Amino acid sequence: MRDVIYAGREFSRARVPAPDPMIVCVPPRLYSGIGMRLHPTGKFDNRGENYRHIEARPLAAAMGAEIVGVDVRDVRDEQFQEIRGALFRHKMIYFRNQKLTHADHEQFSLRFGPFAEDAYTSGVTGHRDVHPLIKEADDRSEMVFGEGWHTDSPFLAEPPSITMLYSVEIPPLGGDTIWANSALAYALLSDTYRHMIDGLKVRFSIRDVLRSAQRAVEQRNSPIGRLAATREAERLSDDLMRKIEGNAHPIVRTHPVTGEKALYVDGAYAINIEGMLPEESAPILKYLTDHITQHAFTCRLRWQSETLAIWDNRLCIHQAFNDYQGYRRELYRTTVSGEKPR
Ligand code: SIN
Repeated sequence: MRDVIYAGREFSRARVPAPDPMIVCVPPRLYSGIGMRLHPTGKFDNRGENYRHIEARPLAAAMGAEIVGVDVRDVRDEQFQEIRGALFRHKMIYFRNQKLTHADHEQFSLRFGPFAEDAYTSGVTGHRDVHPLIKEADDRSEMVFGEGWHTDSPFLAEPPSITMLYSVEIPPLGGDTIWANSALAYALLSDTYRHMIDGLKVRFSIRDVLRSAQRAVEQRNSPIGRLAATREAERLSDDLMRKIEGNAHPIVRTHPVTGEKALYVDGAYAINIEGMLPEESAPILKYLTDHITQHAFTCRLRWQSETLAIWDNRLCIHQAFNDYQGYRRELYRTTVSGEKPR
């Protein structure tokens, strides 16, 4: 039997002493900042409101809700007002069993506002604002579109406000999407931390996503496959250079309709805090992304075909999983134009 080290001393395995009760009984406050992270408490309010024209069934304590009693092809104005309110309240909402054509998808998206510039694709034939997100069963890429925690296209001057994703074919396992509530994360920072980051701006760039795609993705006629294809290009297009240069936006963003404040940071596109050295900025960006994406602030959607999910990019970040190798996944997305973040 090999010896083991315990509390800096060597013991034979047969004689390892019981844990020191003095260590076990140290009051938790003396451990602050190390060891197990406790779940935050308070400020969680994802209950469904008493709507008159829809029903909202919360998905998790932190965010997300299924909206029932709605046929997306035929939404009355009074229903739409409640759906929009539910989106801002729950950050991500979804509707099951919706039989949508691309035209239906477009029409519902336009209720929220004009289409945004899509940073990755130019749509399907006849519907330039409906963007295919398809991963084929034989695609062995080690990265999938939407991998890495992100808000949609924050490297643009006016990033899309809302995204609407509709599922057609879903793998029998995997391919879920997960969201994290960045407004709740902001509310649960200490006053001192909030004060410290107030007024800071983050630069967002497509740089690191491009680099990862060039390294890990097969060249295909797909949004991420086309990015991967640039690894053989002699020079990058002006459009791609513009997205690498990116834009700087406030790290704390105020929602233009509700006034709610949220962290505007992610793990995929946020590259630096303006005016800081990279080594000063990196720990703040890492802390804030880890903080937003802790499990307690998330919800996860198990897709079924004919599900429409909608999220507000100003209030949450999200991530796709690449865990369904050998299966096909087919979804379509529209994005609604947004304002310059403030
Ligand atoms: C996205 O990031 O917009 C795509 C999410 C997904 O495919 O689940």
